[in-house]
Amino acid sequence: MHRLLLVDDDPINLAVLEEIFSETDTLCCVQSGEEALQQASEFKPDLILLDIMMPHMDGFETCRRLKANPETTEIPVLFLTASTELKNKLTGFACGGSDYITKPFEAEEVIARTRTHLHLRDARELIRRHNHELEALLEERTRDLIQSERHAAFSLLMQGIIHNLKGPLTAVTGLSDFITSLIESKNEELSTGPAHIPASEPIAFLTKIAGSSQLISGAGEELKTMIDSMMTKSKSDKQQSLCETDLNTLIKQELTFLEGDMRFKHAINKTVQIAEKPLPICVVPSEISQIVSNLIRNAMDATYTEKHPKMLIASGKKGKNAWLSVEDDGPGIPPEIRDRIFDPFFTTKPRADKAADKEPSGTGLGLYTVAAIVNTYGGRIDVGDSSLGGTRMTISIPLIKKT
Ligand SMILES: Nc1ncnc2c1ncn2[C@@H]1O[C@H](COP(=O)(O)OP(=O)(O)O)[C@@H](O)[C@H]1O
Ligand SMILES: [Mg+2]
Repeated sequence: MHRLLLVDDDPINLAVLEEIFSETDTLCCVQSGEEALQQASEFKPDLILLDIMMPHMDGFETCRRLKANPETTEIPVLFLTASTELKNKLTGFACGGSDYITKPFEAEEVIARTRTHLHLRDARELIRRHNHELEALLEERTRDLIQSERHAAFSLLMQGIIHNLKGPLTAVTGLSDFITSLIESKNEELSTGPAHIPASEPIAFLTKIAGSSQLISGAGEELKTMIDSMMTKSKSDKQQSLCETDLNTLIKQELTFLEGDMRFKHAINKTVQIAEKPLPICVVPSEISQIVSNLIRNAMDATYTEKHPKMLIASGKKGKNAWLSVEDDGPGIPPEIRDRIFDPFFTTKPRADKAADKEPSGTGLGLYTVAAIVNTYGGRIDVGDSSLGGTRMTISIPLIKKT
């Protein structure tokens, strides 16, 4: 059962229409354009049958107003007209009418035309609802993707860092063993050896121990720094709500964390040009870390075959935005793929399970995620050429307005 709004200033015409539809549909009958406008909002019909010749506000004007109102613009309007003149029909369509029925009308024709337009309306409504659901689904999927990309990137970094913890840990245990065996052999020597020990020996012995202790302490410091940066990172990653923060601080924090990667720490010649003044932005901090780490990881991937890779990481303020750029001296991005690098799953790298040892692998979700995050903040991401010879990726995010 549909809802029909019947509009005619002539009560007899109105009664005829009512007779035609009363058994099949829910009706609302009015006799003027003004009432029609009001009922279109209140009764919320699925379709309107509208007489053209009416005093005060005629059908054309009523239709124009219905179409101008977002609340009623989607309701199909069928004109009832005594005129068969082409000009009038065209005016009807120009006002946004869907069809016209000439008076005097046959009940069958009125029913057929009305049903056709109700079907069209139902189909449109269905498509609109589906679209809406698809959009919601897409949004949800995007959020999931961003989340899983974050987990993947994080676990990759953690793997690297945990791997790097092994170096100093081996130093600590190895050197402790060395000291123990040194003391043991000395003890043995003392209990079985000749009674006379040259005066220089205890000093040499203690020097060896002191040297090893120093190495142990250095390794311990290194471990502590790594663990501290992991703690800071995991604390800031837990913060899932918007907060006012300084872009520079987030960049520095991420850089410290990335130092856990030995190639990033030692092999890459980095120049960091962070703005002197704070860059206050309102963001979820972990999302910005994700952006920084994605851009840097791409730059590292792009330069992985190079002997002396270079990278420039900079930030600053431009107009009402804070910006961050990551540049590398890699091969750059060929113009023919520049449009596609932000597409989900677009990658020129092999999958992790197909990549050769140390060869960078990709999911194609990095830049998609970066762009999605930046968009939610009303910011943007730009690809350009770096003066270093490779790519320059720049993101900008609106600064917090000073009140
Ligand atoms: N700094 C860069 N230099 C060269 N190519 C890049 C750079 N950053 C991104 N790209 C290109 O964009 C593609 C998509 O990047 P991204 O979305 O991060 O996915 P992934 O790194 O998993 O491949 C990469 O596969 C690469 O071809
Ligand atoms: Mg990437």
